Amino acid sequence: MNISEISDKITLKIAAEAERLGEKIPYIPDSNGKYTDTDNICWWTNSFWAGMLWQLYHASGNELFRKTAECSEKRLDAALDDFENIDHDAGFLWLHTAGANYRLTGNKRSERRLLHAATLLAGRYNPDLEIIRAWDGQWMPGHDTAGGAIIDTMMNLPLLYLASEITGDPRFGSIAERHADTMLKYMLRPDGSANHQIVFDVKTGLITANPGGQGYASGSSWSRGQAWALYGYALSFLHTGKDRYLDAAKRAASYFISNISATGYVPLADFRAPEEPVYYDTTAGVIAACGLLEIAERVSDDEKRMYMDGAIKILEALETKWCDFDPLTDGILDGGSVSYHEKEHHQKIIYGDYFFTEAILRLSGKSFLVW
Ligand code: GLY
Repeated sequence: MNISEISDKITLKIAAEAERLGEKIPYIPDSNGKYTDTDNICWWTNSFWAGMLWQLYHASGNELFRKTAECSEKRLDAALDDFENIDHDAGFLWLHTAGANYRLTGNKRSERRLLHAATLLAGRYNPDLEIIRAWDGQWMPGHDTAGGAIIDTMMNLPLLYLASEITGDPRFGSIAERHADTMLKYMLRPDGSANHQIVFDVKTGLITANPGGQGYASGSSWSRGQAWALYGYALSFLHTGKDRYLDAAKRAASYFISNISATGYVPLADFRAPEEPVYYDTTAGVIAACGLLEIAERVSDDEKRMYMDGAIKILEALETKWCDFDPLTDGILDGGSVSYHEKEHHQKIIYGDYFFTEAILRLSGKSFLVW
């Protein structure tokens, strides 16, 4: 795999895409294969486009990337104002926009936006259950989901760690750690796999449901959820230095690697689903690859080989079969699956593009830490 060649191809393609898209915020290409604008400014994926642009701005210095990323950040002010539709994914939304801008340029307005978003995320913390609440509303029939949490939230915790770093106030980071510890107790299984969702009774604290969520079923192993756990715990270690988070990330990593070797390093959408139909989720692969590269940086040289090898094998497999570097078409990484039970599978999805780009730039030494 020629990293610098791939990185050049990504840069060329995304520059062409940025010219075409202007202020639009993409998610999944339409039936003509074209990225269109988001129809919901609060949608959790709305900042991966900006995150990719900031990564490429950092790597190349091309002002087009910075200016286009700033458009997304400004448009997201409508989401901050909306308030009601902001949930546990506030980290995804503002780390890749305001957070990236603040980290790379020191922009004061961006700093305020990210602190505002961190305050909303911290406000979702339930001190009795020691969880950050997932979505509002009742999303699991027959259960009070005020006590609901999901593994994906692990990736949003860096917004809280960053808020503590900026303000010098430990309460944001404390909330993040409490949530990470609760997930360690109830979500990450001893073998390193994780359920997607969990619902606690808000009065008794007892678990009332363990929904399979975007995976096959309760008790299964949704591969993107495994990747969120792997990378999420690696990031909690990065921000806190607490060994239990690195151990958790390593456990999730070993589980992930052992599950992808049978399918040529392209993850199935769920590692515990029936043999047929075969649904892959390449986005799980690139998220895990970034997490593996993060772990590789935190362990000794003797230990890092397994994580590096795993990441490189995933990226090679995806680059060979699932990548589109044509500047005239939209989207890089094909083969993504939003959810096991959705009708559509094997699609381009914006977060697949983001994590593929982050992984390639990590390997070329040109990435910066969005998280
Ligand atoms: N955070 C939702 C997902 O991974 O699809």
